[in-house]
Amino acid sequence: MELQEEIEATGRELAAAFPAAARHPMRALDEKAMELTSQDAELRAAVFRFVDVVPACRGVDDLARHLSAFLDEVPDRPPPIQAALRMADSRAGRVALGTAAAAGVKHMAHRFIVGETPREVAGLLRNLWRRGIGTSVDLLGEATVTAAEADRYAERCARALDELSSVQGSWPARPILERDSSGPLPRANLSVKVSALTPLLRPDAPERGQRDAAARLRVLLRRAHELDAHLHIDMESLDSRDAVLDLVLELLSEAEFSQGPSAGLVLQAYLRDSPGQLDRVLEWARATPRGSPLTVRLVKGAYWDHEVIEARQHGWPAPVFEDKAACDRNFEALARTLLDARPVVRVAIASHNLRSVAHALVWHRRSGHDDADVEFQVLRGLGDDLQDALASRGLRVRTYCPVGDLVAGMAYLVRRLLENTANESFLAQQGQGAPLEELLAAP
Ligand code: 2OP
Repeated sequence: MELQEEIEATGRELAAAFPAAARHPMRALDEKAMELTSQDAELRAAVFRFVDVVPACRGVDDLARHLSAFLDEVPDRPPPIQAALRMADSRAGRVALGTAAAAGVKHMAHRFIVGETPREVAGLLRNLWRRGIGTSVDLLGEATVTAAEADRYAERCARALDELSSVQGSWPARPILERDSSGPLPRANLSVKVSALTPLLRPDAPERGQRDAAARLRVLLRRAHELDAHLHIDMESLDSRDAVLDLVLELLSEAEFSQGPSAGLVLQAYLRDSPGQLDRVLEWARATPRGSPLTVRLVKGAYWDHEVIEARQHGWPAPVFEDKAACDRNFEALARTLLDARPVVRVAIASHNLRSVAHALVWHRRSGHDDADVEFQVLRGLGDDLQDALASRGLRVRTYCPVGDLVAGMAYLVRRLLENTANESFLAQQGQGAPLEELLAAP
């Protein structure tokens, strides 16, 4: 069969395994709200400004006043927005509007953020595991500004590693989640952000931030090794990318870490220079054999709006692909290179795009590898259907589960909403009922 035919067949098979659309009514509602928002740039901006101030609002009246002030600035208001504005004219209306808005934001946050503490989410992690779904816990928090804050974040991470390791002992055996051809895979898995581990991460003096974060990251690597847990280092915006990559590769080159822990980093396919980055990572991996191969999580990237705006402000060319098809093509090329590079690296394909996933799965199977030798990853609240479909097909899927409160999670939430309200996003197109043939077409 031709590659494209195989991708279509695999994509259709996965789509058929999506759970029936028995959705929570609130979910349908916030999808409607997101659809409405994605149709109008001014409205989208107003909603984002509102979401951003929610944690600082005092009570429902205050919420309603902020919401109506932002919406008032939108020139072409669709009927539901007009109705909301009329409500804000009376005290009783404001109470109703503020209560509904608070419930809406809270519901949206709950969709993406699984709970406030690792202890609180232990039951949810176990349930996912029992259904054949692995997790990576992310403690919300980023861009710290003081050393004390970075210390506290590092301590919380260390505690989370302890807690995850202690709860996973009672989970039942799930072979696909626990072993691949390179050896055992830890059940406990934590993702961390370097910008939370140092206040000094600045593009103009990368070494200072790197040195400062290294001390805290080394402690976490040590703890993960002792506990036999996996530690994943997330990528953030481009201004810290090189510092983070250098830091991770340097630490993992230290003799102390040659046998463990299981660790990983992220490659962002929306960056035009990502193929060169991948070459660098693979060169390192070939020269630095580890007891447990480095996991490379391939993503499109979550800071697209930030990168484009930052570049525009400076008059620089955007470092990211602005054309979605070009980005998708690059993702596929990187996926092939990564899959072909095994076993020096472990590969995690992190995407909600059925085409990108089907493409990687077909390429993986064509190479004759066992299905245990590839992992798929999704974000909680965005990839739930895909996660269930992959697990039902006996594939290894891991869901990224943010933990924390709304204040710490605001930046994360805004990134999810930006993606979800982007007109071109795969999920938006899928949600609007685009035919499978179109969704699975080569980019
Ligand atoms: C983010 O924090 C998922 O790491 C990604 O947006």
